[in-house]
Amino acid sequence: MRERVHAARELPGGRSARPPRLRTHPRRALGLAVAAALLACGDGHEAGAARPQQPGRPSIASRVAELLGRMTLDEKLGQMTLIDKQFLATESDIATYGLGGLCSGGGSPPATNTPAGWADMVDGFQRAALSSRLAIPILYGADAVHGHGDVYGATVFPHNVGLGAARDPQLVQEVARATAEEMAGTGVRWNFAPSVAVSRDARSGRTFESFGEVPEIAEAYATFVTGLQGSRLGGAPASILATAKHWIADGGTTAGAQYGDAPIGDAELRAIHMPPFLAAIRAGVGAIMIGHNSVNGTPMHAHRALVTEVLKGELRFGGLVVSDWNGTGDVGEDYAFAVRSVVNAGIDMVMVPADYATFIATLRDEVNAGRVPMSRIDDAVRRILTKKLELGLFDQPFTDRRFLSSVGSAAHRELARRAVAASLVLLKNDGGILPLARSTRKIFVAGKSADDVGNMAGGWTISWQGSSGDVIPGTTILEAIRDTVGPGATVAYGRDGSGVDASFDVAVAVVGETPYAENVGDLADAPVLDGEDLATLDRLRGSGVPTVVVLVTGRPLLVTDQLPGWRALVVAWLPGSEGQGVVDVLFGDRAPTGKLPLTWPRSASQLPLNVGARPYDPLFPYGFGLTYGALR
Ligand code: BGC
Repeated sequence: MRERVHAARELPGGRSARPPRLRTHPRRALGLAVAAALLACGDGHEAGAARPQQPGRPSIASRVAELLGRMTLDEKLGQMTLIDKQFLATESDIATYGLGGLCSGGGSPPATNTPAGWADMVDGFQRAALSSRLAIPILYGADAVHGHGDVYGATVFPHNVGLGAARDPQLVQEVARATAEEMAGTGVRWNFAPSVAVSRDARSGRTFESFGEVPEIAEAYATFVTGLQGSRLGGAPASILATAKHWIADGGTTAGAQYGDAPIGDAELRAIHMPPFLAAIRAGVGAIMIGHNSVNGTPMHAHRALVTEVLKGELRFGGLVVSDWNGTGDVGEDYAFAVRSVVNAGIDMVMVPADYATFIATLRDEVNAGRVPMSRIDDAVRRILTKKLELGLFDQPFTDRRFLSSVGSAAHRELARRAVAASLVLLKNDGGILPLARSTRKIFVAGKSADDVGNMAGGWTISWQGSSGDVIPGTTILEAIRDTVGPGATVAYGRDGSGVDASFDVAVAVVGETPYAENVGDLADAPVLDGEDLATLDRLRGSGVPTVVVLVTGRPLLVTDQLPGWRALVVAWLPGSEGQGVVDVLFGDRAPTGKLPLTWPRSASQLPLNVGARPYDPLFPYGFGLTYGALR
C-alpha cells in the first residue's frame, strides 16, 4: 500500500513531469448548452437542499452556521484535510488536527481484511474524531468502484465498461444500491464513485472505469448516484455519499494519458465531457472529484475557471469538491503555491493524502498572509459540514452493522451474476456455435484468465492495481463451466492449451488483460493480446478444434489478424467475482444483449477512434453486438 504514493510520484508523466507553475487560469466562455441544461433541471440541484427540516430541530444550514461560528481557523483547515489512513502517524492525530476525512484509497485495507475488520477500523477512527473539541465526525472514503472491491468477501461487480455495454440504467441503480449496502456494513460512508469519464482513447489505463465513449451512457447512468445515495442523501438507511469523477475531460487527454492534457475547445468540452456531470448533479450527487489531467495546459487542480466559475457557479453545484490523490502535486513543485492554487481554484477538501501536518501548516500560512481568503475557507468548510450533516453522520457516526451480512450476500452475488450476463457482448458467432449445448461431450478450456478471478476483477480490487490469482472469493469461468455442463460431459483444462487434441468438440479460450489501474495501465501503443495468449491460441488452432474466444479485458484489444481463426468471440470485459454470469450466456441460459460502449479498432494507426469520426472503419462499430436466435 505504501508503494502507491511512491509509485504515483515516480511514474513517468506524474508529478515531476508537470510544468512547474501555471499561474494563468484562462476563462472559458459560458456556453448556451449549459444554460439550457440548467433550465431543464430547474432549481436546487443539490438533493440535500430539499431535505425536510425535522420539527423542533434547527435546519442543516443553521447547524452549519452555528458550528462554523465556533470553529477556530485550525479546526476549519483540519476539516479540509483528507488523508489515506496508512499515513496516520497516530490515531490521536485525528482529533489533534481535527481531520475532516480519512480514506482507504485504492486498497489500504485494515490489518484484518474482513467486513467486520473494516467496520471496527472505521469506528475506531470515528471515536477518535468524536473526542475532538467540537466532536465533528469524519467522513471515511474508499474506491468502491465496482462493488466494495477492497473488502475481502465483498461482491465484486463488473467494472463500468461492462455496465456501459449493458445499457441498463435500472440495473446500474441496483448494483449501486447493493454496493451502498455493503459499504454501510463496513462503516465506509463515502464512495469515490462513479467515474463518469467519457473515455476517448483506449490507450488509457482508466478506459474500464468509463461507461463508454459517448456521454449518453454516463448521463443515463446517473442512476448510479441515486443507487448509492438514495433519492436524497441521508434519506434512507445505507445512504452513501457519491462522487462523480473526474472533473473534467479526464477521458479526453492526448493518447489517454492519466496526467495528460486535454487540448479541447469549449464546445467539445461541453458536448462530450460535461453532460454526465450535469446528470449527476441533477441526481443530487454530493461530491465531485477533480481530475489529474489538465485542460488546455492548466492543471484541473488549479483551474479556477472550470472549478469555481463553471462547476460551482454556472452549474450551481452546491456539494463538496474534493481533490484527487496528491492533487497539489499536479500544480507545481512549490508547495505553498500549489496549496493556495488548489484551494483558490475552489477545491474544498484536499486528498493530501500523506503529510497532513505540513498541508495544514502551509494552508494556515497562506490564509494568514492573505493569499487565501477566509471566505474561501468558510465556503469549503460549509460544504463539508453540510454533507456530513445530510449524511446523518452527526446523529449516527458509527457503522450500521445491520448491513454487515449484506457484504457478499447471496442476493448481491445473484445480482452481480445477472449484471455480468447483461454486460457480455457477442461479436462473432460463425455457424451459430454459441450457445453451447449442455450435452456437449468434450470441452477443452484454456487461457490464462479461465481460472483466475483476479484477472476477472481487474484493478481496484483488494489493492490499487489489482492482481492475478485467487485474490477474492468468487467463481471462475472454468468453475462455472464445470458446474453447468451435463452429467456425461468432460471438461478438460490446460491453461496454455496443452492437452488439446482433435477429440474435443469445442475449445473455450479465456484470454486478455491482466490487472492494472490508473497510470500504470496507460499504453503508448494500441492494446493487444500478449505473447502468452497468442501461444495458447496457436495451440488450440493447431488442434483444429472449433474455438470460442472469451476476452477478459478492460478495453478493446487488436484482434484483427486472429479473428478469422476463431468461431466465436465474446467480450466479457472485467466481470468481477461472478464467472457464472459469463457461462450463463455461453450455454444460452441468457441471451447476449450487450452492445459495444467503445469502438473496436481494426488497426493501431486508427487510435483514437470514436463513433462519429470520419473516416470510421472499425473492426466493430460502437453499439455493435449480436444475440442468439431462438434459444434451445
Ligand atoms: C484516483 C482516484 C481515486 C483516488 C483515491 C486517485 O489516484 O485518480 O480515482 O479515487 O486515487 O484512491
